[in-house]
Amino acid sequence: MGPDVKQHNSQLQLKGRDFLKLQEWSYDELLHLLDLADEMKALQKAGAAGQPLKGKTLGMLFEKPSTRTRISFETGMLQLGGAAIFLNTTDLQHGRGESLSDTAKVLSGYLDGIMVRTHAHETVETLAQHARVPVINGLTDRYHPCQVLADLLTIREVKGDWSDLKLAYVGDGNNMSHSLLIGAAMTGMTISVATPEGYEPDPDITQHAAAMAGKTGGGIEQTTDPQQAAKQADIIYTDVWASMGQEKEQAARNDAFAGFQVNRKVFASAKSDAIFMHCLPAHRGEEVTAAIIDGGQSVVFQQAENRLHAQKALMTALMS
Ligand code: CP
Ligand code: NVA
Repeated sequence: MGPDVKQHNSQLQLKGRDFLKLQEWSYDELLHLLDLADEMKALQKAGAAGQPLKGKTLGMLFEKPSTRTRISFETGMLQLGGAAIFLNTTDLQHGRGESLSDTAKVLSGYLDGIMVRTHAHETVETLAQHARVPVINGLTDRYHPCQVLADLLTIREVKGDWSDLKLAYVGDGNNMSHSLLIGAAMTGMTISVATPEGYEPDPDITQHAAAMAGKTGGGIEQTTDPQQAAKQADIIYTDVWASMGQEKEQAARNDAFAGFQVNRKVFASAKSDAIFMHCLPAHRGEEVTAAIIDGGQSVVFQQAENRLHAQKALMTALMS
């Protein structure tokens, strides 16, 4: 790490904090993380990265599958000079009834940080309450803040800034929609969410985002018409129709979301230089056509790579 980076960290005092949902962080703190991510990405590409987490260990608790989150956190820790331990929650004594609070206290004696991917958001809250080390939310049924960190980084790389942009989110009112609503509101974007009736984002989160947007110059729109959401959009974002844990609902959801595919027709409503985003994994032929996700305006693999850079900045800020 260069001296400038250390200086930023000490000013904002992010060390020891949890990262459970974006709304617990200020805009300045978010901006600091994203600036640090840019800096660390450039240093990594130049072969000049330091090892600010030398000797530190991250525990990664997974209750659901993962490709990007697991590999980017693990690789990130290695690149930062530390180590990561993968823990499947069914292999822990927690799976046999040991309490979350005891688990958090025990792990805090060994680890310098804990990353958790789980179903109930309350699980990460409980772990954070009892852990003496930072807890990072690697996805819950309610939020996916690490993904949106990488998404904001990607949007700024491609578009130069966030304010004045319109992001259309087409699909399920799920964890991604919740974190995007908050991320867009914090950065002054206008977000238009198109879902089928009955699949809207949680109204509490929409209201919270609307209140934030009122202060940042952003805007929140909600519709059941994908074309309307996509109209003059700078970014079209979608996610799977059935999230992890909803596999049994897949057939019913395929019917409900049939008109919500991001395809050439929907994309035609957006600005001519609009980009396509998806957190991945994607299902071509369901929420997005191959022509769109594999087309020239798709930035999905840049997004996926940016998970690494954004999370390295996050872990450095919280744990170094
Ligand atoms: N986008 C994302 O979190 O991917 P994984 O489920 O592969 O971690
Ligand atoms: N909404 C998806 C996101 C996967 C990264 C899920 O929760 O399965």
